[in-house]
Amino acid sequence: MKNVLIRFVYSSLIWRSFSTKFAMANSKFEYVRNFETDDRCLPNTWIVVRVDGRGFHKFSEKHEFAKPNDKRSLDLMGKAAGRVMTEFKEICLAYGQSDEFSFVFKRDMDLHKRRASKLMTSVASIFTSAFVFHWPQFFDIPLKYPPSFDGRVVLYPSTQNLRDYLSWRQADCHINNLYNTAFWTLVLKGNLTNAEAEKRLCGTFANDKNEILFSEFGINYNNEPQLFRKGTVLVRDKKKKSEEELEGRLTKDILALNEDIIGDAFWNNHKILD
Ligand code: GTP
Ligand code: MG
Repeated sequence: MKNVLIRFVYSSLIWRSFSTKFAMANSKFEYVRNFETDDRCLPNTWIVVRVDGRGFHKFSEKHEFAKPNDKRSLDLMGKAAGRVMTEFKEICLAYGQSDEFSFVFKRDMDLHKRRASKLMTSVASIFTSAFVFHWPQFFDIPLKYPPSFDGRVVLYPSTQNLRDYLSWRQADCHINNLYNTAFWTLVLKGNLTNAEAEKRLCGTFANDKNEILFSEFGINYNNEPQLFRKGTVLVRDKKKKSEEELEGRLTKDILALNEDIIGDAFWNNHKILD
């Protein structure tokens, strides 16, 4: 009994001495916490997080994406973006095209104290894992290696700035898609080499590309799918819908649209930024 008591006293003394040492060490090292800088986004500004596929030029080749647009990939991007919106109710709208998606957080939200790195990494991580998780729903072939997405945060002080940002991304979609449609039509249907097609399109304006597509290949660019020409905008719509109306929706309350977001009509209809 005495032995047990001595052992107990001895071990508690050792433990106390250890914990005192740990506490001292902790207070000695604790100062490094101050190296973590405050990266809170300015209050009352629109926060946009944009994710973009890393090395998707190679990724799309390796996974045999259709050229210039692969509907499976665009739909999968929309699905992953919908997952991000389900996770973050503070996102009021998302817009995506090609291998990128932009997420707009409500300007008055205070999630994660508006810390830029927390928001950006969470969005990029949820988006990437959802992209991988849902891959088999859209593609018959397995992933050959893990895809990844980078992220950035940009703040827009006025609603006009935000509208201009979204217009810029949609205009980018239009310019790239018109070029890529003309380029791949010249290569795949016109039997030009990549270099010849590039040369043919060098210095051309939108009208010229439309004309090449129409007069040489009978393609009216305006009849190409809206998904390819306009990209995808995700909005929330909580109005009660019948089963029939829910068909084709991303989720019960997230709607995927392929509309023009440069003009006023879309914004007057949806009143998302008011
Ligand atoms: P980083 O973003 O800088 O890592 O480079 P990246 O290779 O991802 O290029 P970037 O983001 O500038 O452009 C996206 C690229 O993905 C395009 O240039 C295409 O090569 C490819 N891509 C995206 N969507 C499609 C698609 O639907 N079909 C095909 N064939 N390629 C696509
Ligand atoms: Mg990319």
